[in-house]
Amino acid sequence: MWFARKEGVVRRLVRDAGHLIRPALVLLAGVAVFLVVRSAIVPKAFGQYGHYRPGALALVRQRPIAYAGQDTCVVCHDDEATARAAGKHAHVACEACHGALAQHADDPAAHVPQLPDVANLCRRCHEKDAAKPPTFPQVVTAEHSGGMACNQCHQPHNPHL
Ligand code: HEC
Ligand code: HEC
Ligand code: HEC
Ligand code: HEC
Repeated sequence: MWFARKEGVVRRLVRDAGHLIRPALVLLAGVAVFLVVRSAIVPKAFGQYGHYRPGALALVRQRPIAYAGQDTCVVCHDDEATARAAGKHAHVACEACHGALAQHADDPAAHVPQLPDVANLCRRCHEKDAAKPPTFPQVVTAEHSGGMACNQCHQPHNPHL
């Protein structure tokens, strides 16, 4: 009895198998296409250092260096370095205000930098903004300076002087 019932189930399954086999074939074809395309477009060394393309390192290394780093600036600009170290800007990097100056550091005479535009520079960090930590010194620049340039009263390298 139970055997006959089971046979009926099996027969029904086999009869309807076309519905299963066709989508399964479509799925397999999709997987095959994916594998072929993937092997064609993923660079060979991909994965050597994890989810990363090692060739990118060589490309990045080819790009010109833009920032010299403040250790370099300090070698030649002792006065500014000393002034800065004594004040509240001690931890603000030279190039945070002066921009990327690696070219200048390599050849100072050939690439003389422009001085920062004080009208925009200081307020970039110090304009009052509720999103900033309340302990960070900030002012409503228009009211605070009365239109005067910030460096008429503050020395950029040591702003309390
Ligand atoms: C190898 C020495 C050297 C290094 C390193 C160097 N500078 Fe200079 N810098 C000079 C000299 C020399 C001048 C004057 C150039 C001139 O006027 O012909 C100068 C001029 C400047 C000026 C313009 C001064 C002015 O009065 O217009 C700024 C700003 C400056 N440097 C900032 C920097 C910063 C920031 C760094 C680090 C990224 C740096 N320098 C690295 C030697 C150096
Ligand atoms: C908070 C911003 C800021 C930082 C940090 C800063 N500078 Fe300056 N620096 C200025 C501004 C603004 C001027 C232009 C001052 C002016 O026009 O009177 C200037 C001027 C200079 C000058 C021209 C000479 C002078 O004193 O006016 C040199 C050289 C210089 N900076 C080098 C440096 C070096 C080297 C460092 C890092 C040790 C540094 N600066 C860090 C804002 C900054
Ligand atoms: C790249 C961001 C940055 C720029 C640009 C900048 N500052 Fe600052 N400034 C700082 C930081 C960081 C401090 C130290 C904050 C602290 O001690 O908590 C500071 C501190 C100060 C202080 C001291 C406030 C106090 O509590 O005593 C003054 C004044 C000041 N800056 C004025 C200026 C002026 C004027 C300029 C433009 C020449 C300028 N800053 C440009 C980041 C900046
Ligand atoms: C007329 C002179 C003058 C000018 C111009 C000026 N300041 Fe000041 N600033 C002061 C004095 C004085 C103080 C210290 C007393 C105080 O906190 O009010 C000060 C304090 C500050 C402080 C610290 C505020 C705090 O809460 O600790 C910041 C930041 C500052 N100034 C930024 C600037 C910026 C940015 C400019 C340019 C937009 C500027 N100042 C222009 C005189 C000036």
